[in-house]
Amino acid sequence: MEVKLETTSPLVTDADALVTFAFEENNPAQGALAELDRATGGRLKELAASGELTGKWLEMVLLHYPAGLQAKRLLVVGAGKREKFDPVRLRRLAGAAARYLKARGAKRLAFLLREPRQDATAAQFVAEGLLLAELDLDKYKSQKENRNGIESAAILGAAAGAGPALERARAIAESENWARDIANEPSNQLTPSGLAERAEQMAREAGLAIDVLDEKRIEQLGMGALLGVARGSAEPPRVIVVTYNPPQAKPGGPVLGLVGKAITFDTGGISIKPSKGMEKMKYDMCGGITMLATMRAIARLRPPVKVIAVVPATENMPGGRAIKPGDVLFSLSGKTIEVLNTDAEGRLILADGLEYARRLGATHLVDAATLTGAIVVALSTVNVGVFGSRDEFTRLFLDTAREAGERMWLMPVDDEYLEMMKSPLADLQNISSGDGGGASTAAAFLREFTADLPWIHLDIAGTAWLDDAKPWMPKGASGVAIRTLVDFAGKL
Ligand code: BES
Ligand code: MN
Ligand code: ZN
Repeated sequence: MEVKLETTSPLVTDADALVTFAFEENNPAQGALAELDRATGGRLKELAASGELTGKWLEMVLLHYPAGLQAKRLLVVGAGKREKFDPVRLRRLAGAAARYLKARGAKRLAFLLREPRQDATAAQFVAEGLLLAELDLDKYKSQKENRNGIESAAILGAAAGAGPALERARAIAESENWARDIANEPSNQLTPSGLAERAEQMAREAGLAIDVLDEKRIEQLGMGALLGVARGSAEPPRVIVVTYNPPQAKPGGPVLGLVGKAITFDTGGISIKPSKGMEKMKYDMCGGITMLATMRAIARLRPPVKVIAVVPATENMPGGRAIKPGDVLFSLSGKTIEVLNTDAEGRLILADGLEYARRLGATHLVDAATLTGAIVVALSTVNVGVFGSRDEFTRLFLDTAREAGERMWLMPVDDEYLEMMKSPLADLQNISSGDGGGASTAAAFLREFTADLPWIHLDIAGTAWLDDAKPWMPKGASGVAIRTLVDFAGKL
């Protein structure tokens, strides 16, 4: 889909569909809708009076060949209550409109922005919503349904100078779709080395430096925690390292380390998971893919800061050589870990990933992982759980998320949680000896491998994929956290 800005009047655009939105408490005679209402001879007011156009969230009111307009259709999408309208809703609304019209064969859209959002970032959110709605999940269907998607979308009514915002939307949304596409791959189609190949191809195209550590180098380095997880699998592990080092980066300036969990399939290992729902564990690589996609977008947007992504990738399988409960692993940092449950594997591979990012020069760390079922209990599929070691740094991240239109929530990581992760035999154990707080005890474990650098941990277990299609997005990987991470890199 090609997305562009246009200054054409909504009355004369000849798109297949002109899209705009109405608020619940809005009289359609207000704002941008007033002009459309007048042009159509009062149709919108009439529909409002009859109760068909109420502005309720994601209500779709479609007019065909509206008299007075050149567009073949007019779609008025319900935007809900005005005071609840935020970037999240604007993006979703645009996506829902695109999916609704795609199903009806529209090829060329025009999206009319209106008050209260006509600034450059509004154009960015709309463009992103439209582009994210494009991806479908039928890759392995031999007969594709309705492949002819929307060809172009013109955004009307944007503030002057929205061009760079649109370019930002493109870079981010295309990277999110790149991530979603890979994250949707089943584990037999995407192994750890397969993921490394996809990363290599991406880095080549984006002009990023990449280094893929194979099992030999992983062993020479001494990443015993990652190797422990990988032992049960016939597929060798990889550590994918992607570097963005712009000439404007100040020598001695901050270096952002992005560490992502990429378990291409999590059976639980010897502490095997129940079979019901186990197929979802092909998404257990979303943290790693998030970081690779963030690098892809950063390469296009070029913030003036050095960024290094470190993605440990492996399967978690039972097998004759697999680690067993009670085994002790030597992590790269030198800390020893007693593995009491082989299903708590994400924290093991991240332990080595975090330490390696620090050795490569990271001064600030962010990790992302589908780490715990406990975060799903706490926040459901609504918010990303955010943990941090420095209040100011964490605040900056949470503010960035809000501005970027992603729902994220601060979670605690007090020292008491760490106490529950201490092993009588080794330095740490990989599951808690206490009750509850599973997302926080996991975070406390990770913090032990950050060497006290400013660090943020994102638990995306509840938000990395959608179990059911939403009006604005198909079922599958969501691409969550990428846009916040890209914006955050620009703030360091
Ligand atoms: N990949 C899972 C976490 C997960 C759960 C992701 C649900 C997405 C949805 C992780 O490796 C895991 O198995 N965690 C265990 C940890 C436990 C054994 C301490 C969990 O949360 O149950
Ligand atoms: Mn697990
Ligand atoms: Zn896992």
